[in-house]
Amino acid sequence: MNTPRGAPVRQLSGTHRLDRYLGNALGINRRDVKPLLAQGRILIDDAPALAVDQLVNQFSRIVVDGKSLPSETPVHLQMHKPVGLLSATTDVRHPTVLDQLEHPARESLHIVGRLDKNSSGLLLLTNDSRWSQALMAPQNGVAKVYLVGVAKPLTQVMIDAFAAGMHFPFEDITTLPARLEILEERVARVTLVEGRYHQIKRMFGRFRNPVLSLHRIAIGSLSLDPDLQPGQWRELSASEAAEAVSAR
Ligand code: URA
Repeated sequence: MNTPRGAPVRQLSGTHRLDRYLGNALGINRRDVKPLLAQGRILIDDAPALAVDQLVNQFSRIVVDGKSLPSETPVHLQMHKPVGLLSATTDVRHPTVLDQLEHPARESLHIVGRLDKNSSGLLLLTNDSRWSQALMAPQNGVAKVYLVGVAKPLTQVMIDAFAAGMHFPFEDITTLPARLEILEERVARVTLVEGRYHQIKRMFGRFRNPVLSLHRIAIGSLSLDPDLQPGQWRELSASEAAEAVSAR
């Protein structure tokens, strides 16, 4: 699309006021958006734009003078992360989960809650940062559920310590209450509402009990699809993605 000044369209990601978004996209001054709006020349998602401070994002379908600005389609997908891949978009030395993913929106995806290289299980990827923030913000209390194999027997003392929260002096943080359920002598189900760096390994490390395997089975209402083999992925349906951030 040619802009009033002929500048190429640049797209902001994230949520912004309409005047900022359009100023950036069209290479015009924010103040010039108001007359366009007053003259009814801007449509957002098929309806006339209402105000310069109306919030829009990269998924909004914006039309100015009959011409559509580029917009993205929200993408939410789950992968069965195998052990051995890095939870990163790119890495010069190691294969990453994104290397596995043939998807048209691949370049715009980010990871929702990393897993360590030697962890496996449910990994979510999206281009929708509001969705990922809603799932990961500790105050939203979205449960991340892991099956954890450890080297030594599990005890009630560990259950209590996970529930009480642990202080990590290096970052000066105390973990939020976590649930540890003993499934077998050396197998636990751990439920966290946050994702601190190597959190589960460090929590068991407090008891000198090394983690031997760590597999994420759920994030909120989203469970790892049993039909996905390690390395496979699938898109989430719109209702799965919406439910994940509504039912917390
Ligand atoms: N906690 C860890 O220590 N590692 C993970 O991959 C996830 C949670």
